[in-house]
Amino acid sequence: MRALVTGGAGFIGSHIVDLLVAENHDVAIVDNFATGKPANLNRYAHFYETDICSPDLHQIIAEVRPEVVFHQAAQMSVKVSTDDPLYDARVNVVGLLNVLEACVTGGVRKIIFASSGATYGNPVYLPIDEEHPQHPESPYGITKMVAEHYLNYYALDRGLSFTALRYGNVYGPRQDSRGEAGVVAIFARQLLSGQVPTIHWDGEQIRDYIYVTDVARANLAAATAGDGRIYCIGTGVGTSVNQIYQKLCEVIGVSVVPNRAPRRPGDLRTAYFDTRRAREELNWRPLVSLSDGLQSTVETVQQDLTLDLATTGAG
Ligand SMILES: NC(=O)c1ccc[n+]([C@@H]2O[C@H](COP(=O)([O-])OP(=O)(O)OC[C@H]3O[C@@H](n4cnc5c(N)ncnc54)[C@H](O)[C@@H]3O)[C@@H](O)[C@H]2O)c1
Repeated sequence: MRALVTGGAGFIGSHIVDLLVAENHDVAIVDNFATGKPANLNRYAHFYETDICSPDLHQIIAEVRPEVVFHQAAQMSVKVSTDDPLYDARVNVVGLLNVLEACVTGGVRKIIFASSGATYGNPVYLPIDEEHPQHPESPYGITKMVAEHYLNYYALDRGLSFTALRYGNVYGPRQDSRGEAGVVAIFARQLLSGQVPTIHWDGEQIRDYIYVTDVARANLAAATAGDGRIYCIGTGVGTSVNQIYQKLCEVIGVSVVPNRAPRRPGDLRTAYFDTRRAREELNWRPLVSLSDGLQSTVETVQQDLTLDLATTGAG
């Protein structure tokens, strides 16, 4: 198939590109490097350095003529969304609308959308399934929920098929470990470079950690199944921050007492998914265990650190 991946220079998008290329699909990428990196670009994919909000997107889609668009580009930081809700909405709502319009005029069959567990807010029951009420508690969660409504509208009114995947806490190689990204990348980098990580609240916050290649596989599964449907993409297993920390220490072979800090505003206690719908309808299930996922994440963070050191040393 011909595919276009927005956000293909980012963490999750680049893994989707890699999988598509490995399966011999024709792939194009649109990214503006807001957070993505040139190093993440797959050399066998055609790259367009463009903002998803730009009118140029229409020309690109007309040129690439993708059958499926994997829409991963987004403002994905909860903190940025609370600091600057206008920017968040510009990328996540207006940008999405630009992508949808370009898909319709460009004859795209289907769009696969990266939604989020952040659309739920504080859960009222566990595990969270697709029917769980959505009460997002951040501008980011609001824009992701609104996006799902737009997808439904474009399917009904313009005949553009969609699948929305609500990801859990995605972790793995290429996740940014410098910003406010997931705890796995942050803790791994800090522990490997001799810093003492900080655990907020009591560390008993529970999340559904899903390895990035499993998320990429869910996207590819959705290219040919699940039209008009929404799926929770996680392992179905809850893991606490303390457990992640402990397992990372074991993998790295260190014993470091973490700093403790108060709960951050908006931190939720417990959230994990019921993934039965994705298993049944997409014929998808996660394949990478937490131990294996942590192990390979640590290995790539270690490689990045070695590379950083070599670059600094040479410079
Ligand atoms: N990482 C997670 O745990 C998680 C969880 C739920 C949902 N998601 C969603 O998954 C998607 C991918 O997230 P990620 O973790 O890979 O983040 P990321 O920041 O690594 O990737 C986002 C990509 O989009 C690009 N981008 C941002 N604004 C753009 C714009 N205006 N025009 C073109 N490109 C733009 C960035 O440069 C980056 O390459 C996002 O939609 C995010 O909201 C991520």
